[in-house]
Amino acid sequence: MGELDISDLSVNPVEFWMSRRLLLTAGVLEDCNMMPVAFGSIGSLWGKPVVQVAARPYRQTRIYLDESDSFTLSSFSDKYADDIEMLGSISGKDIDKLSKTRLTLKPSELVQSPSYNEADMVIECRKILHQDISPEGFVDAEMFKEQYPSPEEYHRVFYGEILAIQKGRD
Ligand SMILES: Cc1cc2nc3c(=O)[nH]c(=O)nc-3n(C[C@H](O)[C@H](O)[C@H](O)COP(=O)(O)O)c2cc1C
Repeated sequence: MGELDISDLSVNPVEFWMSRRLLLTAGVLEDCNMMPVAFGSIGSLWGKPVVQVAARPYRQTRIYLDESDSFTLSSFSDKYADDIEMLGSISGKDIDKLSKTRLTLKPSELVQSPSYNEADMVIECRKILHQDISPEGFVDAEMFKEQYPSPEEYHRVFYGEILAIQKGRD
């Protein structure tokens, strides 16, 4: 993998979040958890480049996100569609789900949370803020009802400062 400067990142952020196969990973190389994510953004906060992700309370990855000071966001080509689907259909609570896929962990360059040899891009982030979705903040009541039928569903939103972007060979 080669390092990419933030100014060379040429993704359309909406397309990136809406159509790429993305895996969110938190923890350390020896003990981490991962899940596909589709809820997020790339932008700027307090003058820093940031990635924003969100996890529902009952995800196993959420425990790791809460305890970790970093996370990585890895993007995969369609070749790994089945692997990503598998990681999104079962929980790390029940099984070592990564061992059921072709994906292999590797240490990241600047953060403790690991990434993957097979990723075509990895964004390494230092966690800087989290915020819980709450009914008080919602403007569109219909959308709130649809997305959050019970408090157990409220996402926690995490913001991470982008420290490094690794680009895969493909
Ligand atoms: C394409 C896709 C996107 C997803 N996006 C999110 C998300 O943004 N936040 C979330 O909490 N769960 C999301 N999920 C659900 C989790 O990935 C899924 O429940 C996963 O199995 C949780 O694993 P874990 O319990 O090991 O963390 C998504 C699932 C898929 C397939």
